[in-house]
Order: sequence, then C-alpha cells, then structure tokens
Amino acid sequence: MYGAIRHLLFRLPPEQAHALALSGLDLANRLGVLKACSPRIEACPVNVMGLDFPNPVGLAAGLDKNADHLGALGALGFGFIEVGTVTPRAQPGNPKPRMFRLPEHQAIINRMGFNNEGLDHLIAQVDKRQYRGILGINVGKNKDTPNEESESDYRKGIAAVYSRADYITVNVSSPNTPGLRDLQFGDSLKRLLEAIKHQQVECEGLHSRYVPIAVKIAPDMADEGIRFVAHALRDSGLDGVIATNTTISRDAVQGHAHANEAGGLSGAPVREPSLRLIRGLYAELGEDLPIIGVGGIVDGASAAEKIQAGAKLVQVYTGFIYRGPALIKEAVEAIRQLSQA
Ligand code: FNR
Repeated sequence: MYGAIRHLLFRLPPEQAHALALSGLDLANRLGVLKACSPRIEACPVNVMGLDFPNPVGLAAGLDKNADHLGALGALGFGFIEVGTVTPRAQPGNPKPRMFRLPEHQAIINRMGFNNEGLDHLIAQVDKRQYRGILGINVGKNKDTPNEESESDYRKGIAAVYSRADYITVNVSSPNTPGLRDLQFGDSLKRLLEAIKHQQVECEGLHSRYVPIAVKIAPDMADEGIRFVAHALRDSGLDGVIATNTTISRDAVQGHAHANEAGGLSGAPVREPSLRLIRGLYAELGEDLPIIGVGGIVDGASAAEKIQAGAKLVQVYTGFIYRGPALIKEAVEAIRQLSQA
C-alpha cells in the first residue's frame, strides 16, 4: 500500500509531500486506524545508555523537528523517536526549495538549515504527548549565534529539555548551519564537550535524574579525525555517539541533475561512509561508548551491517521516506536474526 501512497506523494514537491504525509498519518492515528494498519513488530529488547528499548530501530532527527507528530509516528512501531533539531529560538531555515529527491539513488539532498519553531514550542508539544515510548530530543544552535557562543545555545537546549527527554542529542554535524561542523574538531570540540558535561551534571542535581547525552557527528572525517573524536568523546564522560549525519560528498551521485545542489546527501549513498565511521569509532571505543548507527539504511541488510560493525541501535530517515513503515519491521527482523545466529 505504501508504494501507491508514495507514488502520489512523489508527484508533489518534497516539502509539501512531507507535510501532507505527516498530516495523513496524524489523521489516521486520530481515527484509530494507524496502529491496525501498521506492520506488527516483534519485540527485540535492548538496553543502551541505561535505557530499555523495545527494539533497536529508531526514527532519526529531522523528520519531526518540532515534535508535532509524536502520536502518529509512535504508532508505527519505532523502538524510539528522536525529535528536533530544536534551536533555542524559532528560525525559518533556508529559502525554498531546500529539499531534493534523487530516486535513482534512494537519496535526498537537503539544506533545510534547522527550520524549527524553537524550544518553547517543542516543549509544549512534548508535554502534551500521548507517545509513551523512548524519546530523544536533538538540540542545536541558532544560525545567528556565533560559534564562540555556541556553548550557551547547547546549554540552554539541554537545560530546557532535560526533564522531558529519555536521552538528549547534541548535533554538531549539520552541513547547513555555516561553521557548525567545525565544532567537531580540536579544542572547539573539547571545550564544547566539557560545557555539555557541566550542564548535564547541573541538571542531574536539579532534577535528581540522569539523562544520557549523545553527540551526533558527520561522515566526512579523515581517519585521524575519527580517532580524535572517539577519544574526546570517551574522555568527556558523555554517553553515546550517533554516526552519522548527512554527507557533503557527491561522489556517489555524480551526474545526477540535483548532484550540485548545496546541502547534505542522505540515503543509500551515505551507507558506506557511515559504516566506515562506525567501524572506525568501534575500533577505538570498543564497548566503552555505545554507537547509534544511522545513514543509508534502506533494507534489513543495511540495518544489520551497522550492528555487525559495532552499533547498538540504528536510526532511519531517508530509507523510511522511500520504503515506508515496512522498513522498520524489516530492519528489526534482520537485527533479531543476528542475535539468534
Ligand atoms: C536530516 N537529518 C537531520 N539530523 C539532525 O541531527 N537534525 C536535523 O534537523 C536533521 N534534519 C534532516 C532533514 C532532512 C530532510 C534529512 C533527509 C535529514 C539527518 C538525519 O537524521 C540522518 O542523520 C541522515 O539523513 C542519514 O540517515 P538516512 O537519512 O540516510 O537514513
């Protein structure tokens, strides 16, 4: 059935299709038919970062930036949902068009630029949610906050969502906020991780509850960079790493009409680059710090290979757009079979 729906949706511009699909899901959920229509997903429990996940396949950040669709998305069977990226203040993002489909490659290029309604809106949505599954909240910095002051935006985000999130993600890897990815390297990274840890300790005291924090990184990193990030993360005392965000490389889509659009490339072409990052991180970190694998999961095999490379959980975004809810079941099954093998 999703094939037919997708056929219609893909006739619309991507952002319009995105909004329409989510409104449709909301309606089906309100009518009480969504759960009944969704594939039944076998339990595949896993404990990561101290949290009990019903299955290891989650929704990646960026699809529900404002936590407006938690009820509907929660009915589809994801093991967890990550909302955001949310910035302290609402911001419009980049001018449209800013999202492009590359169906021949099962890929998307986006330069959304953290369009979102800001922390106050997201918190109000989270506070009235009916979704009771595991909720990650992904925080970022406003475009007009200079990198030197980015700590303050991340700290604001963490402080605001701390009591509401099961885990928090710090996003330093979007290619669409100028300079953001510089925060992944050298002293900038070390300073930022230290500030984040301080904020976590402060919030833990205030709320008498420990909320794990993961850092989301980009796939465009040399081996030396991977080693540096791995060690900095382990030394930071933070709780996980999400690998990866979209890539700025266009190697895999050379010659496509949209290949030269600025932004981050996601979907099948980022499968290998993301896998390389996960392998590199796991080689350095082993079991010291859990890795959440994301990038190019389009079927069971591409989900299972991330777990085999060392990830403890996976997330999907672009594959979910192309394959629909069937992908969740397929990915969970493939991972379940690994643990039974
Ligand atoms: C994203 N992604 C993303 N990530 C993030 O941390 N914050 C965000 O706001 C967004 N926004 C966003 C918008 C769009 C349109 C896309 C396609 C992607 C990145 C996403 O979470 C994921 O890391 C990458 O897309 C790689 O996974 P997939 O899409 O290949 O499964």
